[in-house]
Amino acid sequence: MMFAPLLLLLAAHCVAAETVLGVVVFTRHGDRSSKLFNPTHLTTLGLNQVQQSGTFYHSTYIADGAPKQIFNISSPNPNPNQVAAFTPDEQTLYSTGYAFLQGLYPPRPQESTPELLTNGSSVQPPFGYNYLTLHGENADAPESIWLKGDVACPTYLNAAKTYSQSADFKALTASTQSFYQSFAPLLSGLFKDSDIGFGMAYSIFDYLNVGFVHNETIRANVTPDQLFQLRTLADAHEWALAFNESQPERSLPAQPFIGKVIAQLNQTITAPSSTKFSLLVGSYITFQAFFGVAGLQKLSGDWIGLPDYASTIAFEAVTNASVTDSLPSPDDVSIRFLFRNGSAPTAPLTPFPLLGTGNELMSWADFQSKIGGNQIVTASQWCTACHTNSTAQPFCPMAQQNVTTASFNATGMKPAVAGVVGAMVTLGVAALAILLAALLGLRLVRRGSTQPAVLPTTQAHQVPIMTKEVSHDGSSAARTML
Ligand SMILES: *[C@@H]1O[C@H](CO)[C@@H](O)[C@H](O)[C@H]1NC(C)=O
Ligand SMILES: *[C@@H]1O[C@H](CO)[C@@H](O)[C@H](O)[C@H]1NC(C)=O
Ligand SMILES: *[C@@H]1O[C@H](CO)[C@@H](O)[C@H](O)[C@H]1NC(C)=O
Ligand SMILES: *[C@@H]1O[C@H](CO)[C@@H](O)[C@H](O)[C@H]1NC(C)=O
Ligand SMILES: *[C@@H]1O[C@H](CO)[C@@H](O)[C@H](O)[C@H]1NC(C)=O
Ligand SMILES: *[C@@H]1O[C@H](CO)[C@@H](O)[C@H](O)[C@H]1NC(C)=O
Ligand SMILES: *[C@@H]1O[C@H](CO)[C@@H](O)[C@H](O)[C@H]1NC(C)=O
Ligand SMILES: *[C@@H]1O[C@H](CO)[C@@H](O)[C@H](O)[C@H]1NC(C)=O
Ligand SMILES: *[C@@H]1O[C@H](CO)[C@@H](O)[C@H](O)[C@H]1NC(C)=O
Repeated sequence: MMFAPLLLLLAAHCVAAETVLGVVVFTRHGDRSSKLFNPTHLTTLGLNQVQQSGTFYHSTYIADGAPKQIFNISSPNPNPNQVAAFTPDEQTLYSTGYAFLQGLYPPRPQESTPELLTNGSSVQPPFGYNYLTLHGENADAPESIWLKGDVACPTYLNAAKTYSQSADFKALTASTQSFYQSFAPLLSGLFKDSDIGFGMAYSIFDYLNVGFVHNETIRANVTPDQLFQLRTLADAHEWALAFNESQPERSLPAQPFIGKVIAQLNQTITAPSSTKFSLLVGSYITFQAFFGVAGLQKLSGDWIGLPDYASTIAFEAVTNASVTDSLPSPDDVSIRFLFRNGSAPTAPLTPFPLLGTGNELMSWADFQSKIGGNQIVTASQWCTACHTNSTAQPFCPMAQQNVTTASFNATGMKPAVAGVVGAMVTLGVAALAILLAALLGLRLVRRGSTQPAVLPTTQAHQVPIMTKEVSHDGSSAARTML
């Protein structure tokens, strides 16, 4: 009895004491042109949506007095070391990253201090803009896999392709044929007659959905109810490509994404003057693959629906330990998953439990072992999992040659041993090194799932730039095959 008030007091104290150490945000692009016409670009509407989403995150995590202001975050001016932003090097997604960052740290030109030169001149900035670094990952660079693990990945593409052989696919194709045919007048010249059907569910939905916003003819000839049906069919089709409980390969693109999320969170949690806000830009397929592996569809069928334009996922690193002059022990840190569907001012950022735990918080250790159980942390792991080769992805042969180095990092091999291997390679004892690598590599496979691993962000920079045409349209190649 006597303890009750004390407990209440403690609880109240704890609520007030939760500290956000940092956040990793993954965003989809805003309203854009149709995927039928490559390359796509963000529309003015889309730019506004994404910038407003950035503003939302500013007022949630950054601004002084924000409800979840990140511990020690720089405000109102950014500290470049605290913000890390990554996007595939594609126009639509790159603009998304750009516009989001302008909302995250709104430029304050009126308050900028003029620069004084030695000759007495003073200089003003050219225009209101923040110049945070946005890393663009080229489609043939090893870093592309964190955000676009589906592109040029045969394991994923072949798994996704089998959907068209499934009973579900055949049934839906048959039952929706006349529905799709009714749009033929709007689609003629753009789709072959034989392509008009459920197999093209996403492309058809995308064309008519974009047209519903930007094209008078389409607006006049498609009802909101028809558009909803087209969307729901596209939802089902795309979800099936990204997740099938008995075919984990379909969600392979989630694994490098998870690897990147964990690497970013780890920096936030372990390094005081490092990244506090990470921005990752990517495609809906990565959202859906992640939702599937995190078991969110078991909470509600809504998760099967494609996330709206400018939707965001957030992973908060939070603690109830006291944080004043040093970061808490990682043992006191938990991760909270949140989702914001679209960018409307009324759209809430809502926490959801992962893996059916019923708890919106997961300890950092559990997050690494349960969510990160199959994470991909090196380009060479991705190349192996994807069964890719130099034709499909030119960086793979080099990344895989280096699998020894990558594996050692991933298993936390002692630097001294790594040094010995390095020396052997330098001395040209290649065969011996490969043999040793094979042995250790095998160990890695078994230990990898329980062992947190390092993401070698710098390793990839050492791979020479190669040019190769890879789909830049932000879509998975599987889509057009089906
Ligand atoms: C001072 O230096 C800047 C940059 O070199 C130049 O543009 C400017 O004209 C100079 N001002 C004067 C008064 O010489
Ligand atoms: C899911 O995968 C299983 C096993 O490969 C396959 O039999 C089934 O048809 C797939 N379902 C769908 C909807 O693709
Ligand atoms: C609008 O959509 C119709 C039907 O698909 C198409 O024929 C027309 O070219 C589109 N107009 C523009 C400006 O894209
Ligand atoms: C997000 O919004 C889209 C469009 O309204 C909907 O289809 C989907 O189910 C929503 N997702 C969730 C998780 O609520
Ligand atoms: C902090 O304590 C409050 C109150 O007990 C609890 O609701 C919240 O989940 C805790 N947060 C963390 C990160 O443990
Ligand atoms: C707060 O940020 C500053 C600047 O990055 C850093 O030097 C300091 O160590 C940080 N303090 C804590 C407690 O993390
Ligand atoms: C490389 O992968 C592509 C795509 O899977 C395949 O068509 C090709 O035969 C492979 N080439 C070699 C040399 O294995
Ligand atoms: C392989 O790893 C070594 C040691 O870290 C590094 O110096 C080299 O640049 C790497 N090569 C490639 C192709 O990644
Ligand atoms: C986390 O970061 C620390 C350095 O801040 C590093 O020593 C450790 O290996 C990293 N762990 C993972 C799982 O990336």
